[in-house]
Amino acid sequence: MRFEYAPGATPIDPDEAKGLIPAHLTLQRELNEYEESNILEATAWLFARRRGDPLDERFIHVVHGRMFNQTWKWAGKSRRTDKNIGVSWFEIPVRLRQMLGDVRAQIEHQAYSPVEIAARYHHRLVAIHVIPNGNGRHARLMADLLLTELAGRRFEWGRGSLVAANELRARYIAALQAADAGDCQPLLAFLENA
Ligand SMILES: Nc1ncnc2c1ncn2[C@@H]1O[C@H](COP(=O)(O)OP(=O)(O)O)[C@@H](O)[C@H]1O
Ligand SMILES: [Mg+2]
Repeated sequence: MRFEYAPGATPIDPDEAKGLIPAHLTLQRELNEYEESNILEATAWLFARRRGDPLDERFIHVVHGRMFNQTWKWAGKSRRTDKNIGVSWFEIPVRLRQMLGDVRAQIEHQAYSPVEIAARYHHRLVAIHVIPNGNGRHARLMADLLLTELAGRRFEWGRGSLVAANELRARYIAALQAADAGDCQPLLAFLENA
């Protein structure tokens, strides 16, 4: 399998690459398609009825597990190596708990609109980078689940694929980088101009 990476993606370690379940894939495009069908099944499962709380640490892992269970042996398991994106791997549990506590408080006090709460949740979840890979797709689905609970709808995510290296992804990554620096407005603009 020859991996290719879009800008703003986390490269797969050699150890993690060994966790690839399908043996017949050789191209990144084939892997993307394989993952996509795995994710579609998980999405159908996730939205069929309420399966769990998007602010529950264990459920966050369960959803990643469902999204990638046919693709990666480490699906749903926390990172144990450091990456170009994300906190040190040993900080993941603490940072996740802090983040979830903050989001619960934001909801309780209606600190922001439902869209902004879910957008901030998306950014903080993907900035922690819980799993070795699939964090972008996972954190987008988790944000959709949170927005569904708060406002009864999902995000549009620019109405296009954010997996391939394209202009839409470039805008999305730039918006996350602005959020890293404390400015959530570009991410909100990206999500709302869809
Ligand atoms: N500067 C950044 N700050 C926060 N999140 C980022 C940043 N750059 C990229 N990301 C997120 O990381 C994701 C890439 O991580 P990765 O684990 O490879 O997810 P996936 O395999 O689903 O693309 C991007 O889709 C984006 O959501
Ligand atoms: Mg990736």
